Amino acid sequence: MSEVAKLDRHDIVGIVTIDSPPVNALSAAVRGGILDNVKAAIADPEIKVIVLTCGGRTFIAGADITEFGKPPKPPALNDVLSTIENSPKPVIAAIHGTALGGGLEVALACHYRVATKDAKLGLPEVKLGLLPGAGGTQRLPRAVGPELAVKMIVGGDPIGAAEAHKAGLIEEIVEGPASGAEAFARKVVAENRPLRKLRDDDSKLAAAKADRSIFTNAVAAITKKSRGLEAPFAAADAVGYAIDLPFDEGLKREREGFLKLLTSDQSKAQRYAFFAEREAAKIAGVPEGTKGRKVDRVAIIGAGTMGGGIAMSFANAGIPVTLIETAEEQLKRGMGVMQKNWEATAARGGIPADAPAKRMALIDGKVGLEHVKDADLVIEAVFETMAVKKEVFGKLDQYAKPGAVLASNTSYLNIDAIAAETSRPQDVLGMHFFSPANVMKLCEIVRAEKTAPDALVTAVSIARKIAKVPAVVGVCDGFVGNRMLAQRGKQAEKLLFEGALPQQVDAVVTKFGMPMGPFAMGDLAGLDIGWRSRKDRGIKSEIADALCEAGRFGQKTGKGYYKYEAGSRAPLPDPDVEKLIDETLAKLGLKRRAVSDEEILERMMYPMINEGAKILAEGIAARPSDIDVVWLYGYGWPIYRGGPMYWADSVGLKHIAERLAFYAKETNDPSLEPAPLLKKLADEGKTFASLAQGKAA
Ligand code: 3HC
Ligand code: NAI
Repeated sequence: MSEVAKLDRHDIVGIVTIDSPPVNALSAAVRGGILDNVKAAIADPEIKVIVLTCGGRTFIAGADITEFGKPPKPPALNDVLSTIENSPKPVIAAIHGTALGGGLEVALACHYRVATKDAKLGLPEVKLGLLPGAGGTQRLPRAVGPELAVKMIVGGDPIGAAEAHKAGLIEEIVEGPASGAEAFARKVVAENRPLRKLRDDDSKLAAAKADRSIFTNAVAAITKKSRGLEAPFAAADAVGYAIDLPFDEGLKREREGFLKLLTSDQSKAQRYAFFAEREAAKIAGVPEGTKGRKVDRVAIIGAGTMGGGIAMSFANAGIPVTLIETAEEQLKRGMGVMQKNWEATAARGGIPADAPAKRMALIDGKVGLEHVKDADLVIEAVFETMAVKKEVFGKLDQYAKPGAVLASNTSYLNIDAIAAETSRPQDVLGMHFFSPANVMKLCEIVRAEKTAPDALVTAVSIARKIAKVPAVVGVCDGFVGNRMLAQRGKQAEKLLFEGALPQQVDAVVTKFGMPMGPFAMGDLAGLDIGWRSRKDRGIKSEIADALCEAGRFGQKTGKGYYKYEAGSRAPLPDPDVEKLIDETLAKLGLKRRAVSDEEILERMMYPMINEGAKILAEGIAARPSDIDVVWLYGYGWPIYRGGPMYWADSVGLKHIAERLAFYAKETNDPSLEPAPLLKKLADEGKTFASLAQGKAA
């Protein structure tokens, strides 16, 4: 029998155990192992009931994604499932960890399901640009009704065991998966319970069959956030087949939909992103087996916009925080913002009603840097001024316990210079969170010249622990994300001088799939910050300066590049801005020309890719996929386009290099000359992916 699955018999109970680390994914070997062992259990006359369970940390976490795109190997998953479903002996799925995708589909083909209380059950295929391809869209609506099924299949988020129990997806919540399932199995035999086949049970579909709006309303609510994505809509169609068609016909149509998505560009990009995210957690150049340091308590310096959000992220993960400010007043204000934030989430039903109080209890507010003394990790989020940062790190060196990791949340400043203020530069690094820090998933982990490998590992693993996506970057102005963004910002501004309007530029960028264009983003962040910094440095930017001189600082003053109605964040094009641009250009003796959307897109995206090539050549990012991760999770790059470097490969580097050279000449801008690495790859007909090693390639 197969090595990844085995059959044990406890008198009348046959126990099929799958053991294929790390996540028991349904590789050909696992599918074969399940099939062989279930057949053997059916054939064994002593066995009256079969339990299907998994070893290791989780129940089956889905199809083996690494097999996608390769020639299919038998047995097909649907064949394994029909053997289970048609077994003359009851089959019971014993779920722990996560039953996801094909894993939950295996469980749905079983006659009964039990799960441990911390188990999660879901069909996350849409997150990979797919839909469930082994009966999930047909059996889940029959198990829980179309409304919850739509939420799980079209939204892709898993549910917990308690909700699954309430919805009828599992029969019981058990202590140990195998032992609990065995006890349940004996009950099934003793009570002579029927073989419950979901395929034959249409009772939960009756309401939606009579009134289809139950289903269409559920779909409309979930797909509101699916702009640009194909999979959620195809997945919704597939759930519709469960309502409209006989089971076998629905299953066939589901399979067709799955196979179509499997070869789509979107799904390829989304699968790439899945592996890119996991690859990013593997730090290039750190000796294998390097262990992180223990982190039981974190201190955060500064309870402002970022410090507060960072503190919330730690408390959300149950990690105690000492939050440090310069005075009681600031501390009170910061704590108040966090409390309000959590209460608003609780009011929306996003977290339990008692969660705000519990999370606030994890945060110990203090005045004075000496209170960092118990922390294993210190994250500084004070004002973005080198002198202030240096002073804070000098004091941290005095007060922090030996071996504590000392991190700065700086957006641009040089971590080497900050580390040099301490006698322990090996413990210093950057942890650059993104705003709002309790929401945005990216954390750029900045490796400074002297950062010790185990300090780096500590930062990466704690970031994952608080549900962030870490990407390791090197020291430079703006690190990976903001450094690339600066190139886009520069071109956006130049386009205004050439004849484009803010709303035209932003529309091209949002149509591409970004959540916001550069000008709406500027209004959100506040235009006065850049204005002041330009004044300090004696730099001019006539349009932006004129806006600020007219008191247009962005959303906070109700007008910037756009105007805003009271209480609204929706940017409205403003004729006054067009007038101001015209006047400024007239003063400078410049004429507006018609700028095409195609030019805007190229000038927004290609300079960023060019900068990405420089970042790679300098070793600021180790892999193109790390740059993609930064943009996917820090800036809302559309996941179905994989990330800027992945997208660049799909456009073709030769084309991009040629267009950059063209714009460099046309707009007299040497910064647009193709970077040496880009030019080299373009000349050789290669891609950025060809530089990478490992799965993300
Ligand atoms: N196939 C292949 N490899 C997988 C995998 C899968 N379905 N799921 C996880 N892995 C790998 C990861 O790449 C990683 O490999 P690495 O160590 O070499 O980097 C390793 O397993 C561990 O994964 P994580 O680092 O993500 O571990 P976590 O403990 O943080 O998370 C998890 C575990 C929740 C299971 C998470 O891995 C996950 O969400 N996996 C994907 C689940 C999924 O999307 N399933 C649906 C697949 S599509 C499908 O089933 C189609 C079907 O309908 C026919
Ligand atoms: P903020 O002005 O909202 O908060 C800074 C807080 O630090 C203030 O409450 C201040 O009282 C406190 N502080 C100043 N000196 C201190 C000291 N010596 N000890 C304790 N507390 C002190 O600033 P914000 O926006 O939170 O930024 C903080 C850092 O995060 C900056 O380095 C910034 O560049 C970076 N950052 C900001 C992002 C943003 O979007 N706001 C995004 C990512 C990083």
